[in-house]
Amino acid sequence: MSEHVTEQRHGHYIGGEWTDGPSAGGRPASGRTESAESDSFESENPATGETLATFERGTAADVDAALEAATDAFEEWRALSYIDRAEYLWEIYHELRDRHEELGEIVSKECGKEISEGKADVTEAWHMVEWAAGNARHPHGDVVPSEVAGKDSSMRRKPRGVVGCITPWNFPVAIPFWHMAIALVEGNTVVWKPAEQTPWCGQIIAEMFEDAGIPEGVFNMVQGFGDAGAAITDDDRVDTVLFTGSAEVGHEIAGKVGGEPGKLAACEMGGKNGIVVTGEADLDIAVHSAVMSSFKTTGQRCVSSERLIVHEDVYDEFKARFVDIAEGIAVGDPLEEDTFMGPVIEADHVEKIRGYNDLAREEGATVLVDRFDLADEEVPDGYADGHWVGPFVYEIDYESDLRCLNEECFGPHVALIEYSGDIENAVEIHNDTPYGLAGAIISEDYRQINYFRDHADLGLAYANLPCIGAEVQLPFGGVKKSGNGYPSAREAIEAVTERTAWTMNNSTDIEMAQGLSADIKTSED
Ligand code: UN1
Repeated sequence: MSEHVTEQRHGHYIGGEWTDGPSAGGRPASGRTESAESDSFESENPATGETLATFERGTAADVDAALEAATDAFEEWRALSYIDRAEYLWEIYHELRDRHEELGEIVSKECGKEISEGKADVTEAWHMVEWAAGNARHPHGDVVPSEVAGKDSSMRRKPRGVVGCITPWNFPVAIPFWHMAIALVEGNTVVWKPAEQTPWCGQIIAEMFEDAGIPEGVFNMVQGFGDAGAAITDDDRVDTVLFTGSAEVGHEIAGKVGGEPGKLAACEMGGKNGIVVTGEADLDIAVHSAVMSSFKTTGQRCVSSERLIVHEDVYDEFKARFVDIAEGIAVGDPLEEDTFMGPVIEADHVEKIRGYNDLAREEGATVLVDRFDLADEEVPDGYADGHWVGPFVYEIDYESDLRCLNEECFGPHVALIEYSGDIENAVEIHNDTPYGLAGAIISEDYRQINYFRDHADLGLAYANLPCIGAEVQLPFGGVKKSGNGYPSAREAIEAVTERTAWTMNNSTDIEMAQGLSADIKTSED
């Protein structure tokens, strides 16, 4: 599928074939329902409201076929060497690089991120593929000493089996590769459901796997909505579920899957991320970091910051400078290089953000910047049907149970909170949310920085930087409500492999560790 919109209805990629679902024939029709047969959905450009392409909506029957294909393909795929499996991923690595500009534009068109972010999404994808495929040549376990001289012990990894991947719209190319690149190189087969908002990116990724010649059934893609996702996560044939998305869905998956023996869910969810600006901060760094963290991706990263916790000594100056930039930040056409914020993803999301802005007011906020309803001249010509929202910045006295300081809005909705006293006070406010994904401290004092590093409840912590922009060779994950402890990116390897503690005896005698007697005693002794 190229950049040009077509009339064609795009299907699923199952068992090495493109299929439109039941009406297309050629696949077993077990369990399909008539009503679901003709369902389709459209990908929409959030900047213009225009339709980009039409896709089949996956049903439980499509998921069933994909899981069957993935299950059947597993034994042959796992029998290949790591290095042979990685070869397929190297093909994709080159295609991602060769098509960087084109794919970056498609990401921007389909999810509204401004063009440098669209391209960075593709770059992050090939970085993950590079890491996973490169890791095929690295050691995958440990040689471990034994108390007994005749024993050789080691830790070895093996694939878990079929991995179900459910990915979000906001990183429509990078996050699918966080999940799938490692899962595949480690020897698992995959059934993937892309986000319903970004099926075009899903289509292109599936075409890349086809181009790479990956054996049939090893990689499968079913387009669709939450019902298709649930059909994947609920199925017994799935050994690991990898999920990145909302806390609401992630907790439901973690709860359900957690109760099933032998099945594992690695869930990465959102945050109510904060930046602490101490009295010892360099304010150029503080303002720059806060603007990047709050407004990049129009506030729609899981790691975006919605809380700025600022010391009273620098509060007024920080506030004046932050507000000044928020008043003027360039909202506009994501394909224009001078845009900082594109539209938000969809109409319902505009309403969600409106709701959180209203909630902050109801909870006593003093509004400093309200560009929720952008002026007509701020919306690019011909883009009136897009989902436009500008920055909303407010200050509020810290209270533990304010909903606006605890719930994730996922938009350019930012609270300024003034604190006094030591770094301990700032970190107490910082940690007072149910989430714990990303955060930053801005300070020139290493003791404050170290305190934050050691006490902030976070999976991703930064000093003198924005709290966005993690690299794939780091584990990506959160604590508390932000994740269930199996980080993504590099550390997805833990979720898609089983470890075996392997011990072999080189002696003809059996000798036990811990001084345990190996003598067999009978009544005759
Ligand atoms: C997300 O926030 O949804 O750390 C993913 C970052 C990116 C990934 C973000 N590498 O900002």
